[in-house]
Amino acid sequence: MSYKITEAVTWVGKIHLDFGQVFGKKLSTRIGTTYNSFLIKDEKNVLIDTVWSPLGKEFVADLKKEIDLKDIDYIVITHGELDHSGGLGELMKEIPNTPIFCTASSICSLKGQFHKDWNFIQVKSGDELNIGERKLIFYESKMLHWPDSMFVYMTEDNILFSTDVFGQNYSAHESLLFDDCVDEEELYQRALKVYVNLFAPYNKIANKKIKEIEDLNLDINIICPSHGIAWRSNPQYIIDKYEQWSNNYEENQITIAYDTLRGSTEKMAQYIEEGIKQVWNEATVKLCNLAHLDITDIIVEIFKSKAVLLGSPTMNNGIFPSMAGLIELIKVTKLKNKRYVAFGSYGWSGESVGQIMDELNRCGFEVLDEGLKVHWVPNEEEKIRCIEFGKSIASKIKGNNK
Ligand code: FEO
Repeated sequence: MSYKITEAVTWVGKIHLDFGQVFGKKLSTRIGTTYNSFLIKDEKNVLIDTVWSPLGKEFVADLKKEIDLKDIDYIVITHGELDHSGGLGELMKEIPNTPIFCTASSICSLKGQFHKDWNFIQVKSGDELNIGERKLIFYESKMLHWPDSMFVYMTEDNILFSTDVFGQNYSAHESLLFDDCVDEEELYQRALKVYVNLFAPYNKIANKKIKEIEDLNLDINIICPSHGIAWRSNPQYIIDKYEQWSNNYEENQITIAYDTLRGSTEKMAQYIEEGIKQVWNEATVKLCNLAHLDITDIIVEIFKSKAVLLGSPTMNNGIFPSMAGLIELIKVTKLKNKRYVAFGSYGWSGESVGQIMDELNRCGFEVLDEGLKVHWVPNEEEKIRCIEFGKSIASKIKGNNK
């Protein structure tokens, strides 16, 4: 299967239909994704990226329908992660001497994963490769999201091949190849989810790199990321979004993420929400039950929030494993300028709230309060305490609102 991007550029990637395991627990997609590989035909023929390893055989078989593999002059690998480089294993069996252009760090990651001494040609920012009418210009994008990542700009067609940056997960087919073929709001949400889960830990680097790319004043007609649709209707849209998201982004939102055993901590969450709404009705309050939602979606809500309330009952003197997982994800996502507090019900010893607060303090997060505990099921008096707690949190956040 192949699709035309422009006269010279053909999508030769693979669609991976899957309901959750494409990236394991690291990032749920629900519908799968695409591994975008592009074949450029000019005086020299260039293949940009491949596909995930298990699809390598199919990828090579399909590629043969597009071109005699011996006619591929150069391979460019924008990022060594196996969802883009994995097809090299099969491809290089057929064309083992073809030069592979990539960053120094990619040479390291590719050697580490394939244990082959292929014909690597190291490139760095500003290096150019003439392929005939067109030129490829390389721009390293270190830590977006691996040390080895790079953008590739192609003249004439004015395409920016952006690796995972600006990507989103669609299991695209022909009618979904471009941004103007999909629902705008859904596209926004999918692009944001990728941003938060892959790039938010490197916000500062992302912001700097996006500005650098803008300062180059490249004429960009199409952005082709390595997952999902290509941005052609208004490529600047997603560049602007990345600039916003990477600059301490927040909305008037508070997220309450909790797990519950017999419903007491859930009741607390609902009462706290009620209190928040009494003080700050315009704010969006997201109630996220960890038992029902994926933490890679919850982290997106946290990313958008000014404050985060984490609720867990006490279980065997500790916190729920689901909450421990979320705290770990919050830590590694390194979100700045968020304010946190904990709450939870307990029957026996009641350590959960203190443990969550300790964890938040240890991570250097700004904490809003000492937290709120309720013994057993909240009664009328405790319901009022929860509502007052919500009101107090909302007042603090609203008071700081600019
Ligand atoms: Fe899509 Fe970082 O690989």
